[in-house]
Amino acid sequence: MTDVTQVNEKISIERQGDIALIIIDNPPVNATGQVVRQGLQDAITRLNEEGTAKVIAIYAEGRTFVAGADITEFGKPPQPPALPDVYNIIEASQIPVISVMHGTALGGGFELGMATHARIGIKGLRVGLPEILLGLLPGAGGTQRLPRIAGIPFTLDMALSGRQVKAEEALEKGVIDRLVDTTPREAALQAAQDVLDGKLATRRTSELQVERDDKALEDTAAKLKAKQAHLFSSHKVVEAVAASSLPLTEGLKIERQAFLDSMQTPQRAGLIHAFFGERAVSGIPEAKGDSREINKIGVIGGGTMGSGIATSCLLAGIPVRLVEVAQEGLDRGVATITKNLEGAVKRGKMTAEQKDAALKMLEPSLGLEVLSDVDLVIEAVFEQMDVKKDIFGKLNTICKEGAILASNTSYLDVNEIADSTDRPQDVLGLHFFSPAHVMRLLEIVQGAKTAPDVLATGFALAKRLKKVGVLAQVCDGFIGNRILAHYSKPASYLVLDGASPQQVDDALEGFGFAMGPHKVGDLAGLDIGWMTRKRKAATRDPNERYAGDVADKICENGWFGRKAGQGYYIYGDAAPEPNPEVAKIIDAVRAEKGITPRTFTDAEIVDRYMTAMIVEATRVVEDGTAKRPVDVDMVFLFGYGFPRFRGGPLHYADTIGAKELVARITEYAKEDANYWQVPPLLQKMADEGTTFADLNKGA
Ligand code: CAA
Repeated sequence: MTDVTQVNEKISIERQGDIALIIIDNPPVNATGQVVRQGLQDAITRLNEEGTAKVIAIYAEGRTFVAGADITEFGKPPQPPALPDVYNIIEASQIPVISVMHGTALGGGFELGMATHARIGIKGLRVGLPEILLGLLPGAGGTQRLPRIAGIPFTLDMALSGRQVKAEEALEKGVIDRLVDTTPREAALQAAQDVLDGKLATRRTSELQVERDDKALEDTAAKLKAKQAHLFSSHKVVEAVAASSLPLTEGLKIERQAFLDSMQTPQRAGLIHAFFGERAVSGIPEAKGDSREINKIGVIGGGTMGSGIATSCLLAGIPVRLVEVAQEGLDRGVATITKNLEGAVKRGKMTAEQKDAALKMLEPSLGLEVLSDVDLVIEAVFEQMDVKKDIFGKLNTICKEGAILASNTSYLDVNEIADSTDRPQDVLGLHFFSPAHVMRLLEIVQGAKTAPDVLATGFALAKRLKKVGVLAQVCDGFIGNRILAHYSKPASYLVLDGASPQQVDDALEGFGFAMGPHKVGDLAGLDIGWMTRKRKAATRDPNERYAGDVADKICENGWFGRKAGQGYYIYGDAAPEPNPEVAKIIDAVRAEKGITPRTFTDAEIVDRYMTAMIVEATRVVEDGTAKRPVDVDMVFLFGYGFPRFRGGPLHYADTIGAKELVARITEYAKEDANYWQVPPLLQKMADEGTTFADLNKGA
């Protein structure tokens, strides 16, 4: 007869003769919230006091073993018992304790396993220390126990990369003692019996010796200093792992302090905002309704975007019909897709066999007629309204009823495109970011007449493609490109007024962007911005200070950036160098406009650039183009290389505060009152003392 005691609502004990099972049941991911911590502590204490069980096995119900500490508790006053204390109690248990891990044993979950006296992995298990991705470090013994189990270099690798280690590798490294292919419950009973029968050895991790490796620690510290100087918790990881050669209690103290210090940083808050934001963007009613089935996708256009989109679909196992007007374009598209997939093989994302299978799912075709049976068409031809309208008009007659017709336009009016069909309810924008098979952002643009199930299909597709789908309303540039068009101007104004392109880039790279705006321009091709400026010339506000003087002159020389060998920088075999010809152009433009150059500090550059970004981001929220501030933040993290540890432009804005932002804009407006205007929403927030975080909560 089974004897089950409910320790609390999340933890139960089941006794079977000499075996006691401790079962964790805290959906969705068995995080170690306060109730779980308390329950584990009480269960171990109770079983030790009773002294009847001869072995204890811990396993979890549901899709995964413990996936870590409960992130929602971070930043709030800590509730006892603390996780490290609970794990110390588990490790000190007089009755041997084993753990059975399945799914993803991450952070505090993996640390729970390490505190037990033997570990069993269920096939498919992944273990990881992802705290670094949240601006933290393992805070429940991971930096002390893993070195004892698997050595210092492996601990540094896991704790600094946050990567999930597959069960096979975990077994090889001695992180788990066994890998079995059964249910967690069966495995727990079997392993417990094996302990009783002397077939599975148990030991306390604290009693294992750490093999010192000062060189690995020093090399890693030096590498971090050079490459990740600004990331607080990375350095703390090294500090804590270095302490693992001390007695465990001392090492744990150092780890705890490092963990608490990391918890106080804005980086931790930014990264946790990113974690929840990534999930929040699809947590809206528009994403959750019924969706249409997508079994085959047509992609129109074999250029960089079309090929990237097709690659992304193939990587997700969705058959693609790629359509071009001429054989040459089609061949180029197929070649690009093949190259993209080969790149995925090289990066270890897929095997050569999987690549071949993906290519078999690609049907290159000439003529739109072949799209008659696809479930979704994504048009990715060049940005010209009449061309798009012509294509959608044709799709209207060719495509089957219920097929979804999407445009990858990055700024054109999706409603106008939709109205070139007599099924505008089936039309939406699916705006991918280049390279489309790599960048995770997908703006899902809702037309005025887009049907709810079409919109929901956009979100379902984003999920299948492993992208982050963000809802956007129709406007010039949607969320991302509209904000970009605004904040790219102060980068140019700063150069006109005295900074060099390199100083602007360096300052923003110092802020955390992977590349400054001039380097990004060079990479994307300066001709793109040039074309946009020409397109918008006729409608440009006559009072606006023109930002394109320097860039136009660079383009007139054909120096379109990286692809031309030069732009703001000169590209060759060596690292890019600032282009001296550009410096001459800048001097000439300043002279022509009568500008006396002045100096800017890096901080001033960052402030102006970021304030401009925040201003337009606020307007995008204000007019409903983005549903909430968090949607804007995720667009920037996943589509524009915004530093993840800063959480996104509007999360960052909260760290400055609306009052200070209004004061800054008012100050800048003394130089250029046309460009620098306080958005009414920001003024209201400053007056009322509210934040973008309040708006996210629906306040
Ligand atoms: N705490 C609280 N909630 C969590 C959570 C956690 N550690 N991990 C996941 N969740 C929530 C998610 O927010 C999501 O909630 P909603 O459904 O309300 O959006 C839900 O659980 C399911 O998560 P996913 O949608 O991400 O599900 P998935 O199956 O795609 O992925 C996962 C599962 C791999 C576990 C993934 O959720 C994940 O990576 N979680 C974070 C793991 C982590 O970082 N753990 C370390 C925590 S820090 C720590 O442990 C410190 C320490 O040393 C003591």
